[in-house]
Amino acid sequence: MAKTRTKTVYSCTECGGQSPKWQGQCPHCGVWNTLVEALAAPTPSRFQTVTGKASAVRALASVDARGSPRFPTGIEEFDRVLGGGLVPGGVILLGGDPGIGKSTLLLQAMAAIGAAKKALYVTGEESVEQVALRAQRLGLINAPVSLLAEVQLEAIIATIGVEQPEVVVIDSIQTAYTEALTSAPGSVSQVRECAAQLTRLAKQRGVVVIFVGHVTKEGAIAGPRVLEHIVDTVLYFEGDTHSSFRLVRAIKNRFGAANELGVFGMTEKGLKGVSNPSAMFLSQHAEAVPGSAIVATMEGSRPLLVEVQALVDPIQGGIARRLSVGLDPQRLALLLAVLHRHGGVETSGYDVFVNAVGGVKIDEPAADLAILLAVNSSLRNRPLPAKTIVFGEVGLAGEIRPVQRGQERIREASKLGFRQVLIPNANKPRQAIEGIKVLGVERVDEAVAMMRE
Ligand code: TYD
Ligand code: MG
Repeated sequence: MAKTRTKTVYSCTECGGQSPKWQGQCPHCGVWNTLVEALAAPTPSRFQTVTGKASAVRALASVDARGSPRFPTGIEEFDRVLGGGLVPGGVILLGGDPGIGKSTLLLQAMAAIGAAKKALYVTGEESVEQVALRAQRLGLINAPVSLLAEVQLEAIIATIGVEQPEVVVIDSIQTAYTEALTSAPGSVSQVRECAAQLTRLAKQRGVVVIFVGHVTKEGAIAGPRVLEHIVDTVLYFEGDTHSSFRLVRAIKNRFGAANELGVFGMTEKGLKGVSNPSAMFLSQHAEAVPGSAIVATMEGSRPLLVEVQALVDPIQGGIARRLSVGLDPQRLALLLAVLHRHGGVETSGYDVFVNAVGGVKIDEPAADLAILLAVNSSLRNRPLPAKTIVFGEVGLAGEIRPVQRGQERIREASKLGFRQVLIPNANKPRQAIEGIKVLGVERVDEAVAMMRE
């Protein structure tokens, strides 16, 4: 009997080399555990030359650059991270830890979109009843959304062909599988192949496809990272599941600015957008406390005030620990070295813990000065002056470098009732900003001395 199965090969994720059967070690580059199953491309016979027809080229100036029309999802904070809304043919990946709110957000978005566009929600993880239960909880039970409980890729694609939706959610891409591959659903090859086929379909038909991807520990199940280069837009949920805040960040966006941040609160009735999140990441101290500094960071296009906390405590035997939550640990090590060399503050006999309040992640160097001063403040057990905002990048030579969009950060501080900013000299505004005293610093030792007074 003829074999009906499509031919598969095993290709190496490191070097791209192929072998006909699975092996622990790639025979081409010698790296271990890199072979994944893939569809074999039909190989042209050796004597046959492959020729292509010339395609027409166009002058750049003759191309209409207006782009495709966007349509909003109706959820303001979601539209913000998407760069204004969905684009027909756009493919989006929404990643995040299990239980953080991916299905909730997308069900809410689909319900809102459903009023104007044909929306199809493909659920592979939950039954349609479970989805309906969630919809009921969200007060969206009558939303104009079609549901499909299906995991087989071929069936999903056929259904899209018949139903002709304009927006499709695949929840999740890790449960989808194609019959063409023998590997298990959730493996790298399945996830990649399913996503590639659905992406092709999205481009051909101009339908928006949104993949849900669980972030997983390294292992048998492929995380959403393997898809980042295939899709147009990559969004990740941030924030810890213990707090009620949820952040959605655009890591990559072919249709808008990356690094935009959408802020939500998880309530009984699903995710609610927080339109003015600036004050959310400040803890409420009645008075200034040691080890706390408030930084004005830029999250995409808007400033956000975040409290940075440090605890510096003598080591309890063993080696000094350095731990950071929401802040770059490498950067912390660097800042402690600068603080020692250029600020004369020694932390080698201490454990140093730093934390960005509220589960937010800051990877902007503008937070350097705040981290440094929070550490110093905890070590000395002296609070920073009350109502003070700090920002500035710290260089290895002990200089405090300016950051971009200083004015906007200062204005935000003023808007939220802060009275003083400690910033790089070069960021000092030319005109005074009402109600704000500006302290400019040039060097680390200067900043440390200033806060000691
Ligand atoms: P869910 O969207 O199922 O997460 P994911 O798809 O990312 O795995 O969200 C699950 C969590 O959200 C769950 O812990 C319950 C909580 N939740 C609420 O607090 N309020 C709600 O209205 C809903 C629907 C969920
Ligand atoms: Mg889910």
